[in-house]
Amino acid sequence: MKLKMILASALLALGCAASAQTVIKFSHVVAADTPKGKAADFFAKRAAELTKGKVKVEVYANSSLYKDKEELEALQMGAVQMLAPSLAKFGPIGVKEFEVFDFPFIFDDYADLHKVTQGPVGASLLAKLEPRGIKGLGFWDNGFKSFSANTPIKTPADLKGKKLRIQSSKVLEEQIRSLGAIPQVMAFSEVYQALQTGVVDGTENPISNFYTQKMHEVQKHLSLTNHGYLGYAVIANKQFWDGLPADVRGQLEQAMKEASAYANKIAQEENDSSLEAVKKSGKTMIYTPTKEERMAFKKAMAPVHIKMADRVGKEMLKEVYKETGFDPEKL
Ligand code: LMR
Repeated sequence: MKLKMILASALLALGCAASAQTVIKFSHVVAADTPKGKAADFFAKRAAELTKGKVKVEVYANSSLYKDKEELEALQMGAVQMLAPSLAKFGPIGVKEFEVFDFPFIFDDYADLHKVTQGPVGASLLAKLEPRGIKGLGFWDNGFKSFSANTPIKTPADLKGKKLRIQSSKVLEEQIRSLGAIPQVMAFSEVYQALQTGVVDGTENPISNFYTQKMHEVQKHLSLTNHGYLGYAVIANKQFWDGLPADVRGQLEQAMKEASAYANKIAQEENDSSLEAVKKSGKTMIYTPTKEERMAFKKAMAPVHIKMADRVGKEMLKEVYKETGFDPEKL
């Protein structure tokens, strides 16, 4: 009898503890072993530790919950509480200023980029999400994109007429057109098959995405053009975030601070090790363009900066140029 009572009260306590727990669904579209995937898992672990189990973050990798376009809608509706979409994904929901990150060659390296993401421009960009019911929590790096195809890529002319998959971004569309190629917008989860079946000829990616989506199995050539940046804004449903008890929110902010430092520390390492893995696979030829060849890409793409200035706003562009020293007129 006594045992029965103990068991019953233990079950009751368990029930109470379970209902007191806040579950955060964190969805993303890349593999778990990428900079974003690892940082999301890191955040989940620290969130559990710092809140002493009051918050459980469930991470759904590889588009297992939502694909590109659905992700942001689901967050705005509250069906998922957290995401880390690539910066390009905010243009299509009307926050066009985020497409400044898609401008070709605008950042030379991570140091250049951090002047923007970690400074006042970054903060003002995150603030623009609030009227859309989105709380911006920080920026996580991935890396610099390279072009791949089934034929060698040394100069812009090598991409002429090719169908290249891009994310949905007007700036990226213009970038592909500047090479005489044809932009094809497509969800990330569909790229491998599209490359395999020849629906598209090539694409652009940081190497960590290229390798973990196994694109090296279906692309014979990869040219290390590093022509543009791909990174993320970590976001939450604003109503959900603001409704958290203040102490829990503070603990999650601390977990996010640590996860962001971790993400930005591993991004380069992850891309470097993915490059080694692609080399080792022997399936994709890797080409490093000469200084002159890379300059030819830069020159070919420079008009994108002029043509698309109004899309992100001349002021925004000027602010970023001021941080990075990039000047398309000097090319
Ligand atoms: C893409 O669609 O190429 C990227 O947004 C994928 C990602 O999240 O890194």
